[in-house]
Amino acid sequence: MPCTVIVGAFWGDEGKGKIISYLALKDKLDFCVRTGSVNAAHTVWKDGQKYALHMVPAAFLYEKTRLLIAAGANVQVPRLLEEVELTKVKGRMGVDMNASIIEEKHAVQDKASVVNKGIGTTGWGVGPALEERVRRTAKLARDIPALKPFLTDSVQEINDGLDAGKKVLLEGTQGFMLSLYFGTYPYVTGRDTGASAIASEAGVGPTRVDDVIIVYKSFITRVGAGPMPGEISKEEALKRGWFETAAGTGRDRRSAPFDFELAKKNAKINGATQAAMTKLDSMFPTCKGARTLEVLPAEAKQFIRKVENKAGIPVVLIGTGPDAMDIIDLRKQ
Ligand code: IMP
Ligand code: MG
Repeated sequence: MPCTVIVGAFWGDEGKGKIISYLALKDKLDFCVRTGSVNAAHTVWKDGQKYALHMVPAAFLYEKTRLLIAAGANVQVPRLLEEVELTKVKGRMGVDMNASIIEEKHAVQDKASVVNKGIGTTGWGVGPALEERVRRTAKLARDIPALKPFLTDSVQEINDGLDAGKKVLLEGTQGFMLSLYFGTYPYVTGRDTGASAIASEAGVGPTRVDDVIIVYKSFITRVGAGPMPGEISKEEALKRGWFETAAGTGRDRRSAPFDFELAKKNAKINGATQAAMTKLDSMFPTCKGARTLEVLPAEAKQFIRKVENKAGIPVVLIGTGPDAMDIIDLRKQ
């Protein structure tokens, strides 16, 4: 803080939504800016209720956070309106007037594309919508009557907020290995998903970012096609308690053990200053619900220490269960 970027370390679904919702409540965030698009679902649990958010920023749990959709983001209008209703955030939701729009035709094109089928895209139409933006024929938020109540110059809001010392969180989506530039091309998404790109989409210059938190999960998952070193079978994943299905599409997630070398490399390329580790309780079940470091078993502590040594940054937030508050917070108060 005051300006923090949250970036996913691997192929997405590291639990960024959970980390962001905790930070919103704990740090009383002033702004949370969602980048990317509707293909990414951020899961937030609060008091036993689950939210799989495709558009509304994951910081909605703290009722004073101003929620923004970045100028570089891509808006799926019906889904946004649905989630605004569900989360009851109409009065504090803003959409940058220059954000671009995904239309139904983009989803149709995405699903009809043989190439995209091979990649295993989410089918939301994000790739075709981005193509249209690059062709300069896309609709923008300011062209959509239903978005009128939400339109704002988010770039000005965010930068004025930073001038005033407000707490701003830039919410990255997906994971670094799905980056168009740095990921497992062509098995990637349609944009760069790295920390610099997250700041760029939000209209925040690199010198204004104070912290980059890279989010690791205690094992790795991937949905869709493409290489995944160390991948284990579904049977093995079930046995280890690692088997997951996608929050957005319901597809099976592939899984692999934590990759220390990749963790190190991606921390460096993203300029990470700190790390979060989610789902420690999937690896070490006795960690479930832990909220202090002391109660963790020695092997769990060793795992965290090994990640820190490899990546060269401290692991400051450790997720031990699905609720926003199931976390060990090791940041200096
Ligand atoms: P697209 O982003 O829908 O074009 O899909 C491209 C690739 O990124 C596919 O392998 C998708 O499964 C993957 N992908 C896109 N969004 C997410 C996400 O939020 N979590 C995990 N994988 C994703
Ligand atoms: Mg997800």
